[in-house]
Amino acid sequence: MTHALLSLLVLGTYVNAHSWIEQLTVIAPNGTFIGEPGYARGNVLRTAPGFSDPTMVNLIPPNTQQNVTVVMPTTKMCKDTQDTYNQTKGSPRLQASAGAAVALRYQENGHVTLPQNQPGKPKNRGTIYVYGTTQPKKDETLLNVHGKWNREGTGGDGSGVLLSKQNFDDSRCYQINSGEISTTRQKEYPHQANQLMGADLWCQQDIQLPSNAPTGKPYTLYWVWDWPTLPGGDPTYPDGKQEIYTTCMDIDVVESPNSQTKSSFKYAVGQDLNSASIQSEFEDLENASDPQPAGSASSASLASAVSPASSTLSKDPTSASAGAPTSTYTVTMTETAAATTEWVTKTQVYYVCPQTATLS
Ligand SMILES: *[C@@H]1O[C@H](CO)[C@@H](O)[C@H](O)[C@H]1NC(C)=O
Ligand SMILES: *[C@@H]1O[C@H](CO)[C@@H](O)[C@H](O)[C@H]1NC(C)=O
Ligand SMILES: *[C@@H]1O[C@H](CO)[C@@H](O)[C@H](O)[C@H]1NC(C)=O
Ligand SMILES: *[C@@H]1O[C@H](CO)[C@@H](O)[C@H](O)[C@H]1NC(C)=O
Repeated sequence: MTHALLSLLVLGTYVNAHSWIEQLTVIAPNGTFIGEPGYARGNVLRTAPGFSDPTMVNLIPPNTQQNVTVVMPTTKMCKDTQDTYNQTKGSPRLQASAGAAVALRYQENGHVTLPQNQPGKPKNRGTIYVYGTTQPKKDETLLNVHGKWNREGTGGDGSGVLLSKQNFDDSRCYQINSGEISTTRQKEYPHQANQLMGADLWCQQDIQLPSNAPTGKPYTLYWVWDWPTLPGGDPTYPDGKQEIYTTCMDIDVVESPNSQTKSSFKYAVGQDLNSASIQSEFEDLENASDPQPAGSASSASLASAVSPASSTLSKDPTSASAGAPTSTYTVTMTETAAATTEWVTKTQVYYVCPQTATLS
């Protein structure tokens, strides 16, 4: 078979295949997947009768829109089968405790390992976002959430938070093909083929649930894959085009005897890749500050509370030797205590010395 014909066949196989969250799994403090997986709203398993990609793909803007280059303000976040709570038989919700680390896994479908298949796409294969809320709305729109909700919970309408943002290419995943990216990764990240993934290695986005997500209730996640065609990248769309895919899911937040805290996170290096989170993503969770609940003290208010002290002090006051303090700044911060879901208030007092200008 000629190389050109082979490429055509490969292209034909992948051209209509897109990505969604296949599974959610709790990650143990050592970075290993544990427990039973959970699934998106309205999930149709790949093994189910009647499955085809369109049962799970949610393309925005939809192909039916008159001008397919831009997202309309009315376009909904979720696919119609995922518009509200909807678990299908054999695809239950994930059970996870507040503060748990959770892996969202998706298949790359060649979007990572065969980048030549789609012209004009960003190098990172697009950016993926996970938004979280305890107050999901049935008719939530993409534009009410995407690019609006922030880590502090102060963005947009303030009803949710941005939990995670990363490259679609998690720098490890692959599907088996003869392209250079796939063959390199097959050698670098070997694993035993299993029933779920076959010989492929699925991509993942590892997130952490807020440590104060209310127990006994579902917590909603919106996964958004933002994969635009850049201006000049594809002659069909000279000015570029928006292309976004979403998956909407809920997690049952449950009581856990050994609730997870960042302080207990320690990634076991060299573990079986069939059940391993991604070390760098997991360590990023360990090092990131807790996501804020929507509607709580914002980092903006925190920053303005802290800035008078920190902008006035040019030296740590404890190391300044001369003089009595002339003024005192009291900084009050609200934060979550690691092992509880309570918000605690801490007060710190800073003394400012008049001599700071002469210290070197
Ligand atoms: C990580 O911890 C889980 C749960 O305690 C355990 O089942 C698993 O074997 C551990 N993984 C490794 C690589 O030690
Ligand atoms: C729930 O999901 C299934 C599978 O996608 C779909 O057939 C059904 O219509 C959905 N139900 C609702 C109320 O959206
Ligand atoms: C689609 O909308 C964009 C943004 O408003 C505009 O620049 C472009 O010309 C429109 N394309 C068509 C074919 O109407
Ligand atoms: C996270 O913090 C630990 C300890 O400070 C550090 O060793 C590690 O490199 C950090 N990881 C990342 C991904 O920044």
